[in-house]
Amino acid sequence: MSSRQPTFQGVALRPLRRRDAKVLQRLLVQDRAWLSPWEATTPGIRYPVNARSLVSNLLHQVREGTGAAFVVEYEGAVAGQLNVANILHGSVSSGTIGYWIAKEFAGQGIMPKAVALAIDYLFDEVGLHRVEIDIRPENAASLRIVEKLGLRSEGLKERFIHIDGGWRDHLVFAITSEERKGSMLGRLDNTQAQ
Ligand SMILES: CC(C)(COP(=O)(O)OP(=O)(O)OC[C@H]1O[C@@H](n2cnc3c(N)ncnc32)[C@H](O)[C@@H]1OP(=O)(O)O)[C@@H](O)C(=O)NCCC(=O)NCCS
Repeated sequence: MSSRQPTFQGVALRPLRRRDAKVLQRLLVQDRAWLSPWEATTPGIRYPVNARSLVSNLLHQVREGTGAAFVVEYEGAVAGQLNVANILHGSVSSGTIGYWIAKEFAGQGIMPKAVALAIDYLFDEVGLHRVEIDIRPENAASLRIVEKLGLRSEGLKERFIHIDGGWRDHLVFAITSEERKGSMLGRLDNTQAQ
């Protein structure tokens, strides 16, 4: 990540650090009921929240170049997380964004700004061509994020990801760099003004 830390109206994306595990553990435990319907799980395995191992896995992907991992801060406080998985360069040049915010920070338009910052970063600094977001059809709040950012719908992938203990359908949304036209933050301003 470049030395410039993407920030907009109090929302900052900063690279995940090993020492974030402590605050993330607290948020992930206190918001279990809020987050678990949307969290990826491993078939046949149930395990308690373990932010240290989560952070280790994410940082491993960052080192391998297959992922990017951020903490989402709001006015200096850790509010949630945004990760980019399955980063491919070359002829695909694509990555998939996932995110969550602690319940106490929900509904303030924080994550749409964080996603806008992330997409601009992925296009402008990482050089990706396409960014994808996969959302369960039941996740109305997350569907609002892609709507606010004007991502294109690519259809339904049936039983695509193991979430909350089962294989769940996901709606796929994407944007390519040609479609962006200006910055993603600009798009956010435009859709919110409508
Ligand atoms: C999806 C999520 C990241 C949205 O982040 P956010 O920063 O709250 O986004 P917004 O403030 O733009 O709110 C999005 C929608 O959430 C709903 N919402 C608003 N306040 C809310 C609250 N206090 N609690 C729950 N939902 C709320 C509204 O439908 C809102 O749409 P609106 O702005 O048109 O009213 C957040 O709800 C979340 O982390 N949910 C649990 C994990 C998750 O679903 N991750 C995504 C998996 S694809």
